[in-house]
Amino acid sequence: MGYKITCLPGDGIGPEIMAAGMKVLGAVSEKYNFDLQMDTRSFGGAAIDESGKPLPDETLQACQNADAILLAAIGGPKWDNSLERPEVGLLQLRKQLGLYANIRPLRVPDAAVHLSPLKEEIVRGSDFVVVRELTGGLYFGEPKYYDADQATDTLSYQTYEIERIIRKGFQLAQTRKHKLASVDKANVLASSKLWRETAIRIAREFPDVKLEHFYVDAAAMQIITKPTQFDVIVTENLFGDILSDEASVLTGSLGVLPSASYSETGPALYEPIHGSAPDIAGKDEANPLSMIYSISLMLRDFDETEAAEAIDQAANKVMQHGFVTKDLGGSTSLSAFTEKVLSEL
Ligand code: IPM
Ligand code: MG
Repeated sequence: MGYKITCLPGDGIGPEIMAAGMKVLGAVSEKYNFDLQMDTRSFGGAAIDESGKPLPDETLQACQNADAILLAAIGGPKWDNSLERPEVGLLQLRKQLGLYANIRPLRVPDAAVHLSPLKEEIVRGSDFVVVRELTGGLYFGEPKYYDADQATDTLSYQTYEIERIIRKGFQLAQTRKHKLASVDKANVLASSKLWRETAIRIAREFPDVKLEHFYVDAAAMQIITKPTQFDVIVTENLFGDILSDEASVLTGSLGVLPSASYSETGPALYEPIHGSAPDIAGKDEANPLSMIYSISLMLRDFDETEAAEAIDQAANKVMQHGFVTKDLGGSTSLSAFTEKVLSEL
């Protein structure tokens, strides 16, 4: 089997962690005998510098024609005042590819419980997935504009958009612990009222899954006070953005969390949930795990399960031997960490 993968290294630490991921991917493709056709394209701030646009047409086309897309990270202060922002490219890419379902799994392995800033007894056993709606809500709603006197964003959802993401949540819960937490702000927001009604209606299709509702403020608290109660959390775009960064604290670092984004039919996109960390770019300090785990999510979707498991195990072993990057309180460099993963493989 061969896979056509479009790589978008992007900005900041993006190129470094992408290079680390490529080495790991290359190693497992040899060991488990599958072919890769890698196609690297310019995206984000790097693309603005080259062509004035964060998502050049050729990049979008390469993504549309791929079996999967690997994205590292985009953005940075360099483009804060530029006409185009790198983030716009990411939002366009998500929208153009119809990537409405963003899956952000989070697990704290027993061996890594001590890396969390929270109490071990709270964190131990945490294992849940945030299913974030990715192509609607405040990020895309119109009207959206600002001028000197006022600014407007619009939080709007169509019923079908809520239905399909809620179904994703239920389907995922069926493969796990059969619990779905739907997060909204139905005591205040109209879009959340529709969200909750829709969740209750779709629940009839999934009698084997227990549906619970949380207001987003309460969910934010529960994620760090009682994280083990969660199995699958499904929520709208901005709530999911915020809650998934918050949840990453459980693991000790944003630098370890991968994500996968799915459309109804086209290629999926795999990316770390963190940003481009410009402050440490080029310093060989970044944690490549979010990228490495994103690759392992991709390989699972390709049914290259053995290769995916080999990657996860190799990474866990390196950590168990006490080698972690600076974000997790260690002193192992990005390149040294990657080499250790490669030798475990
Ligand atoms: C994320 C990021 C993006 C988002 C930014 C970079 C636009 O924070 O993927 O979570 O807000 O979706
Ligand atoms: Mg975010």
